[in-house]
Amino acid sequence: MSIPISADEALRTLGEELTGGLELIAAATSVAELEAAEVAMLGRKSRFSSVQRALGSLSEEDRRTVGRRTNEVRDAFRAALAARRAELDAGREARLLEADRIDVTLPGRRLRPGSLHPLTIVQYEIVDIFTRMGYRVVEGPEVETEWYNFDALNFAPDHPARTLMDTIYLDVPGESGLLLRTHTSPMQIRTMEAQPPPVHVVVPGRVYRNEEITAKNMPVFHQVEGLAVDEGIAFSDLKGTVETFFRALLGPEREVRLTPSFFPFVEPVCGGKGCRTCAATGWIEIMGAGMVHPKVLQNVGYDPERYTGFAFGMGYDRLAMIRFGIPDIRLLWESDARFLEQFQAVG
Ligand code: DAH
Repeated sequence: MSIPISADEALRTLGEELTGGLELIAAATSVAELEAAEVAMLGRKSRFSSVQRALGSLSEEDRRTVGRRTNEVRDAFRAALAARRAELDAGREARLLEADRIDVTLPGRRLRPGSLHPLTIVQYEIVDIFTRMGYRVVEGPEVETEWYNFDALNFAPDHPARTLMDTIYLDVPGESGLLLRTHTSPMQIRTMEAQPPPVHVVVPGRVYRNEEITAKNMPVFHQVEGLAVDEGIAFSDLKGTVETFFRALLGPEREVRLTPSFFPFVEPVCGGKGCRTCAATGWIEIMGAGMVHPKVLQNVGYDPERYTGFAFGMGYDRLAMIRFGIPDIRLLWESDARFLEQFQAVG
């Protein structure tokens, strides 16, 4: 419903409304307050709206004047609203950014990179050389039977090695003849049982002997076993393989010497017993090796008339010690980060 008013009255009202409205807008501290100001100023119940409604009762000339002024007031009001809204939005953004701020000026906490254990480094190097020569890597159980650890490898029941090797027998109820493998050689048997020839495998792993702990000895140490069986494998293949291996591992200038020794599962052509530092001669024994004994081939059902092969086994704890100048084998077991982090970092 429109209430008739004079043009003067209408213009004064519009003027007051604009002033009041602009004050409301300036005072608004939130979008909700701005919206309330807009309703109060331009809403159906506002004085501005009643002036608009009263336009019809004015003379034509007055209507034009007052009408123009209504438009001006509304436009001015809307412009002020928009500007204040932009201000409020920007302020909100700035406050969010401020609250979300991440202080990157402090030094970050650096992750300590892990490193490969010196034994792992040497093991990887050894295995790598053989895989490049076409060998496959297999691993076997550390708890073995007497059959695999000794009998199948042609150790006679009274063979002194059974005691010389300081075998650790296991007392497991219901089981007899279980032991911790004293060498990786039992995996020769397990591998050949599982597949027909040709065989080319290397077997890295832990072995156990009941020895006193000293700077040079641990009751747990590591060996890599190797086995090659095929038709026509000769001693020259063993010699060539061993020489190629040591030159790759220790450098081309390294001299390799084969000296006779005895292991029951290979025929006595060469070898040593683990690796012992031999300060007096300048030579160290690293590897035992030989041509696979026909009886061993028979034990796994290979025809010894048709197949021949060679085998080798080497301890690499001492290789690692020599290589890295580690004075005491116990350091390899102490898990002391100050020692371990000196080796090849990973990650
Ligand atoms: N098993 C022997 C040891 O632990 C090392 C060895 C010697 C392994 C001769 C072989 C070999 O394969 O042919 O002392």
